[in-house]
Amino acid sequence: MGTEKILIIGSCGQLGTELVESLRGIYGDANVVASDLKKADNPVFEGGPFEELDILDKKRFSEVLSKHKPTHIYHLAALLSATAEKNPEFAWKLNMDGLFHVLDAAKEDKSISRVYWPSSIAAFGPNTPRFDTPQYGPMDPTTVYGITKYTGELYIQYYYNRYGVDTRSLRYPGLIGYKSLPGGGTTDYAVAIYHDALREGKHTCFLGEGTTLPMLYMPDALKATLEVMHAPADQIKMRMSYNLAGMSFSPEEIAASIQQHLPEFKIEYAPDYRQQIANSWPAVIDDSLAREHWGWKPEFNLEDMTTDMLLNIKQMYFQGGNN
Ligand code: NAD
Ligand code: SER
Repeated sequence: MGTEKILIIGSCGQLGTELVESLRGIYGDANVVASDLKKADNPVFEGGPFEELDILDKKRFSEVLSKHKPTHIYHLAALLSATAEKNPEFAWKLNMDGLFHVLDAAKEDKSISRVYWPSSIAAFGPNTPRFDTPQYGPMDPTTVYGITKYTGELYIQYYYNRYGVDTRSLRYPGLIGYKSLPGGGTTDYAVAIYHDALREGKHTCFLGEGTTLPMLYMPDALKATLEVMHAPADQIKMRMSYNLAGMSFSPEEIAASIQQHLPEFKIEYAPDYRQQIANSWPAVIDDSLAREHWGWKPEFNLEDMTTDMLLNIKQMYFQGGNN
């Protein structure tokens, strides 16, 4: 790679922890600055620069920018769907003001040549077609998280058109990985279920049977993120956020895939407030624009992911690996 210097905001969360590792592998440890409210206790963050940064604190953000002079910013800090419903006012503030601070910095300083900000399937709503959900169609999110994602999508497009900020974005499905834990979403059960399967032999699911949602295994999420950020600008013809798909499954289908490895595993259902959120989201996403524009193709299906998750989590718990 050339002279890129990367800043990741909100780097200690589920996605950031893995993205820091991947980006340091590409650009070198010293060229990838991780930042978050506090440094997480994870060896990943010892390998290169780390800054304590609250993205709502503009003065501190400006100090970090002056010190490191990033060319690319990955802005990940947000409250996710379930946590955001507990404090909708703050969720709006964090998710929107944080984004504006990043977009305004890139608008004012042209050496910040690229901004990545993820959207979500939460940007869709009950009137969106649930199957083969198209890139364009009805968008009526019902959660404050989804409202911030949809609004954010319109703003990143606006900053691209009006100020020439090179914004790139993906509508992630639920992300599933073993190296980090999720931070308060409606799809989090699909990570917890693997840990519970290995430790307890059973899982009580906060979503009910038949709740099919789009999901993506972390290696594919990282691949898509890097592909969309590395694609030549003329291939990025969608400046809101690309639909992105990996797999779709219901709680009973992921349970069945675990039972292929652990036949005694049991699942029970105790749906809570997150059921209503899940009911407003699509089940199967059409990501043909991402495939067409920059060659997106996921590698993992449910069976491959389950095999890999169980193998790695088992190693962490029973053979002394790190969590
Ligand atoms: P996460 O909750 O695991 O991590 C978010 C990180 O942001 C945390 O480490 C938190 O400490 C940090 N943060 C919170 N407030 C901050 C502030 N004021 N300043 C700086 N950092 C702050 O979330 P994640 O799962 O890693 O998600 C990252 C991004 O991807 C978010 O924008 C999220 O909406 C999006 N996304 C995630 C998923 C998913 O399934 N994980 C799906 C769709 C979209
Ligand atoms: N996984 C995320 C959530 O459930 C989707 O954006 O909030």
